[in-house]
Amino acid sequence: MQNNNSPLGNTSLEIFLEEFWQKQYLLIPNALPNFKCPITADEMAGLACEAEIESRIILEHAGEHPWQCRHGPFEESEFSQLPESNWCLLLQSCNLHLNAFAKLLDQFRFIPNWRVDDIMLSYAAPGGSVGPHTDNYDVFLLQAQGTRRWEISSQSLCDSDFLPNLDLKILKSFKAEQSWQLTPGDMLYLPPGIAHHGIAEDDGDDCITISIGFRAPNYNELSTALLNDIDQQQDSKSQFNFYSDPKFPLQDNSGEISSWALERINKIVRQEISDKINENDWFGKYITQVDESAQLLEPQLTHKQCLQQLASGQHLVRNEYSKLAFTQNDKHKENQIQFYCNGKVEYYAKSLLPIISLACNHRYPPFELTNIALEDKQAELFLCHLINLGHFYFEQDL
Ligand code: SIN
Ligand code: CO
Repeated sequence: MQNNNSPLGNTSLEIFLEEFWQKQYLLIPNALPNFKCPITADEMAGLACEAEIESRIILEHAGEHPWQCRHGPFEESEFSQLPESNWCLLLQSCNLHLNAFAKLLDQFRFIPNWRVDDIMLSYAAPGGSVGPHTDNYDVFLLQAQGTRRWEISSQSLCDSDFLPNLDLKILKSFKAEQSWQLTPGDMLYLPPGIAHHGIAEDDGDDCITISIGFRAPNYNELSTALLNDIDQQQDSKSQFNFYSDPKFPLQDNSGEISSWALERINKIVRQEISDKINENDWFGKYITQVDESAQLLEPQLTHKQCLQQLASGQHLVRNEYSKLAFTQNDKHKENQIQFYCNGKVEYYAKSLLPIISLACNHRYPPFELTNIALEDKQAELFLCHLINLGHFYFEQDL
């Protein structure tokens, strides 16, 4: 991966991954030079009134209790009742709803797509913030408009350090060790676990911050996903196999589950799990799952119409709701590419790697994607299949 257009300033992608990612903060002044905020505070308030946008308002003092969190959708009239200061509005998953943010996300593809969560927007009135807190995930905080002061602290924390009975995990006390003022185009990267507090400065401009957030499934989620996948494999040979103990040793207590039996059970379970892990596709299916609200328009193009549109040179765009990924695994014999699409897996020959990787890598794929499809029958079928399922559309269909 090249550093061209990287938003990391003077830090190369390699150095970033080696020294900063998941390890330490990085302040990147002027990360996106001449950055123009793609949204206004009024437009954000409008989006917060829509049911399909997940929104929250956080009031430091003006709610029923300190740090009250209200959930949207909101009524327009609610905005006029808000105080002059010390509150903020958060809009989740803006990359799904607004192309400008989907495009912005494409600049962070040096971290694999499956690690990306979403783009959150935050508008903060003067003095407004979500309170001092830590996150379990990595985040790039890009200042889009106005000025925000970010304070950080490396203090180590435990559960009792947070205020009780709140929707938000806010620190009872926070002692800033470092602080910076970020203006449009500046960015701060924070790894998980660093306490931080971002307060809107009163500089006469609206303070809007864009958070590019990453996802990291917790261990419970991972093991549950693996076990669910084993459970769903109706045709799995394992359902016809039953516990057996032909070498059962004589035991003194019939009421005891012996350590011999436990070891045998554990061995069977370990084998089941390791067979599943070696198949290698449960994780791809899990991590590309989308929730039911995902909107895919199925264009119902005939194969001929699809080809005509491809040949006419129109730009293809991947639906932001589509989660695509692939793995390569020789175990699947001639179908060595496992292609994951919104929680499902399909198997393809290695010769399709160029088109599959382009489809998975880019939300705005280069023309090469179309060219490969126009030159190879299997690639053509693959791409038309994705278009007809609504995972890619022609830009004019926007
Ligand atoms: C914000 O932008 O208001 C909060 C983002 C964060 O602290 O992660
Ligand atoms: Co945070």
